[in-house]
Amino acid sequence: MRIDILAVIPELLQSPFEHSILRRARDKGILDLHVYDLKEWGLGKHRQIDDYPYGGGPGMVLRPEPLARAIRQLQERAGGYDEIIYLTPDGTPLNQSLVNALSLKEKLLLICGHYKGIDQRIRDKYVTMELSIGDYVLSGGETAAIVLVDAIGRLLPGVLGDESSALTDSFQDGLLAPPVYTRPSEFEGMKVPEVLRSGHAAKIEEWRYQQALQKTRQRRPDLLSDDDTSDTSD
Ligand code: ADE
Repeated sequence: MRIDILAVIPELLQSPFEHSILRRARDKGILDLHVYDLKEWGLGKHRQIDDYPYGGGPGMVLRPEPLARAIRQLQERAGGYDEIIYLTPDGTPLNQSLVNALSLKEKLLLICGHYKGIDQRIRDKYVTMELSIGDYVLSGGETAAIVLVDAIGRLLPGVLGDESSALTDSFQDGLLAPPVYTRPSEFEGMKVPEVLRSGHAAKIEEWRYQQALQKTRQRRPDLLSDDDTSDTSD
């Protein structure tokens, strides 16, 4: 999969993709990631990319010309994109099923906004999807792009060592993940639940399911259908 990122502060996007799972994805050629500096397409000798908002008010707005030129050139270079995604707090809230769907695409362009955002005409003409990573405002879209690339990258086939492990994450089955334990079997007086040491696969699976259900009921009842919200186990 190819992901191109158009950023105002490309430096923010260096380290996060150079370690661990995303590093491996890139090294294996599974994730082809490119970061571009919007200032390359800036206006005049100062490479201007932003300006005051029409109608007044605080903050600056990213001008449409550098963005349009950058998008068109990158589109040509990549041979077109499946989605051109603008990261913005007023976008569709990102969730696991959107991440799953995006992980099946071949080429994505992510646009990171800054300041008061980007000129609406770019959103109207070029952007195909607008995503928010949560109901809070970040200082720029770069951090949101890191989150999105991380969530997508780990799902790409061949990236995770254990192919099944992404399927057991929180949200993949609509439930939060159950508790996990490792050695030692007793720590500061607390014991690992006996069932996990029983070697009985079906019982372990059932315990994990019940724990996941209970945690989801307590913390995120909004994730459950009406049938699952009432606790019938006691
Ligand atoms: N840019 C600023 N805040 C954001 C958010 N919550 N999600 C995506 N992009 C953003």
